[in-house]
Amino acid sequence: MMEEKQQKLSLKREVGLIGAVSLIAGTMIGSGIFMSPQTVISSIGSTGASLVVWASCGVLVILVSFCYAELGTVIQESGGEYIYILRTSGPVMAFMLAFSSIIFVRPAGVAGISLSFAQYVVAPFYPECTPPVLIVKFVAAAAIIVLAIVNCMNVRFSMIVQVFFMVAKVVALVVIIVGGVVLLAKGNTENFEDSFKNSNVGINPIGIALYQGLWSYDGWNNLNYVTEELKRPEVNLPRALVIAISLVTGMYLLVNVSYLTVMTPRELMSSTAVAVTWGNKVLGSWGWIMSLAAALSAFGSLNGTFFSGGRVCFVAAREGHMPDILSMAHVHRLTPSPALIFTTIISLVVLIPGDFQSIVNYFSFTAWFFYGVTLSGLIYLKIKKPDLPRPYSVPIVLPILVLLVAIFLVLAPIIDQPQIEYLYVALFILSGAIIYVPFIHFKLCPGVFKKVTTFLQLFLEVAPAEKNL
Ligand code: ARG
Repeated sequence: MMEEKQQKLSLKREVGLIGAVSLIAGTMIGSGIFMSPQTVISSIGSTGASLVVWASCGVLVILVSFCYAELGTVIQESGGEYIYILRTSGPVMAFMLAFSSIIFVRPAGVAGISLSFAQYVVAPFYPECTPPVLIVKFVAAAAIIVLAIVNCMNVRFSMIVQVFFMVAKVVALVVIIVGGVVLLAKGNTENFEDSFKNSNVGINPIGIALYQGLWSYDGWNNLNYVTEELKRPEVNLPRALVIAISLVTGMYLLVNVSYLTVMTPRELMSSTAVAVTWGNKVLGSWGWIMSLAAALSAFGSLNGTFFSGGRVCFVAAREGHMPDILSMAHVHRLTPSPALIFTTIISLVVLIPGDFQSIVNYFSFTAWFFYGVTLSGLIYLKIKKPDLPRPYSVPIVLPILVLLVAIFLVLAPIIDQPQIEYLYVALFILSGAIIYVPFIHFKLCPGVFKKVTTFLQLFLEVAPAEKNL
């Protein structure tokens, strides 16, 4: 009986090209395109520069994804950055990544997206003013808890949620694009005249604008987390990356053009929920529809982040880098409930002090630090192991170029106008190395861990899950 269950727990190569594209695009489109345009333009100052930022983010993400396509076909294990860093930079760096991503990055992602959801749910009830922060946070917390329960109960149900919400967000973006095109065709082009006036070209404004834009594109690396489940990864991984990212980049640019056609930069900057302001101006009394669609989009993304997020826990626990309990699944429901519960608790904690913009900035800072480490791993492999079989290969200048951009992204907000919070985040990332030595390298207190694991295993009714290669 137990064996049969364990068999079911292992994952098969079932994801084809279409599934792969929607896995990437579905994670990328979420809260950012409905929340970040106002921060990008406030930071960078002009309509022209803001469109340049959105386009640059798309180009950067396409370039970095080419590098990930090579990594994913050379190292065909699931686990994304974690496994690439483990195989190139070694266990300490990999542990730091797993630690930061499980304790901070993923919960911060969940908290950020849930705040966007909450903002859009409450926006129609406060048409003339900014909604009270406390109410927004309560709604965000409620969304996190509901989705955690759904994901702990049933895998099938959370898949249905995913598909339904994917449709909602694509429809929302298409409506915004079509509305913008119609108005542009009617000659509403005044916001694009003299479009680079008032641009802020400092390092900090550019860095923050890119952080906000890149948040909207984040999720481009999602397929690399599940390479083991992908059919013919050497063909489908590069293809899916290019198709999904180009599609999303095109949509994001057109959506931004539409926002700027309808709103002046000043209106855009002062709006707390752009899609609602857009909806009120273009759809009149039907404006609330946009609010609903943006809320559904964030909700779907939140669900996806919960759904796929267990992967890092899983692979890191498999390597002995995380407590085993985090990689176990419920014996009957087959859901990874311990990891889900853990993420939920930390996300709720992050939610208490955090607001959307700062969560996104710290998220992007940490994420790009590790993308940089991953890229240096690719450069190392290309130089030191040129003979590895490479079904897909990029010229070495590409990872070098993207690595330089990643270094700029990480250093920009620190050098120019340093904020103490970035120091805290950096210290937190480094603290991973300090924890590594006693607990992982010297395996201190294994007895305690074992007892706690056994207790939690019985309490949560979970067992280890197997994974195939
Ligand atoms: N791009 C998404 C959004 O705009 C956020 C993705 C968060 N990251 C992730 N790996 N789930 O909401």
